[in-house]
Amino acid sequence: MLQHTTVIITGAGSGIGRHLTIQAAADGAHVIATDVNEAGLAETRQLTQGSITTALLDVSDAAAIQAFASQTIPRLADTRLILINNAGVALGSGPFSETSLDDFEWLLAINLWGVIRMTKAFLPHMIAQNAGHIVNLSSVFGLAGVMHQSAYCTAKFGVRGFSDALRMELLDTPIGVTCVHPGGIKTNIALNARIGTSGFVSRAMHRQGAASFEKAARTTPQEAARQIWAGVRQNKARVLIGNDARQIEWLTRFLPTHYVRLMRRQIEKTFGTTAARPDTRRQ
Ligand SMILES: NC(=O)c1ccc[n+]([C@@H]2O[C@H](COP(=O)([O-])OP(=O)(O)OC[C@H]3O[C@@H](n4cnc5c(N)ncnc54)[C@H](O)[C@@H]3O)[C@@H](O)[C@H]2O)c1
Repeated sequence: MLQHTTVIITGAGSGIGRHLTIQAAADGAHVIATDVNEAGLAETRQLTQGSITTALLDVSDAAAIQAFASQTIPRLADTRLILINNAGVALGSGPFSETSLDDFEWLLAINLWGVIRMTKAFLPHMIAQNAGHIVNLSSVFGLAGVMHQSAYCTAKFGVRGFSDALRMELLDTPIGVTCVHPGGIKTNIALNARIGTSGFVSRAMHRQGAASFEKAARTTPQEAARQIWAGVRQNKARVLIGNDARQIEWLTRFLPTHYVRLMRRQIEKTFGTTAARPDTRRQ
């Protein structure tokens, strides 16, 4: 189905990116799977049946993206390119007042600048070919601003705005843009989250956060990848994954400012008021 298509996927060494790789290769595409994690990439390669090449690529490294694009573009020949900006990280740092700007910048460099830089590097090729598709991974945190997630929400709202702007610019071309908003997907993202350098979040809190995420995340990465591919085939502007994502989209659409109070109440009910109030957290 994806014959004569090359798919470049960032963050393909785990989770959603790994399953996007497996499904694209099974559908007949040639996949260029990239990640910073060499072992994870090797595992993805082993699990993939079909045409795959792998490359180490840190999406927060502007020079590395340039070098990767210069090497890759001449080899794309006449195939249609699908770029999937999937690589992403999470940060456990507590409220914004306790989040260091270094941690904030680290997250934006991967989750937002990574998407922008990869698109800047590969869009000219798509325009020259008059074909292609860009898929950007946002989140439900790109639909709702949520406490203790200021950096992640900033990045994911940014990805959503960037995607809509691109889509509008490219409407009269055959180049599609899809923005994906997953709810909780069972991957390693929470387990591998960086613990913020300000010291607000302890190792025990980090473990507890990862365990709560594991319980709350309902969708498998295989299912997430299946829905993303279905969305790309239909050239959907937005793909919402999971009932949690649909509920949050509904809430923010119909209560665009009041959702903040409602969600905070829900978070306090689920995790306790101490989780919500930075001043009581350390006691
Ligand atoms: N899992 C969820 O519940 C969820 C929800 C909403 C959005 N998302 C988004 O989906 C995307 C995929 O996340 P996932 O859940 O599969 O996580 P994951 O941790 O399983 O996979 C993320 C991959 O990105 C790679 N990565 C990290 N930093 C990188 C860098 N600098 N350069 C290149 N690769 C890098 C990691 O090595 C890893 O292989 C992310 O953008 C994430 O923010 C996930």
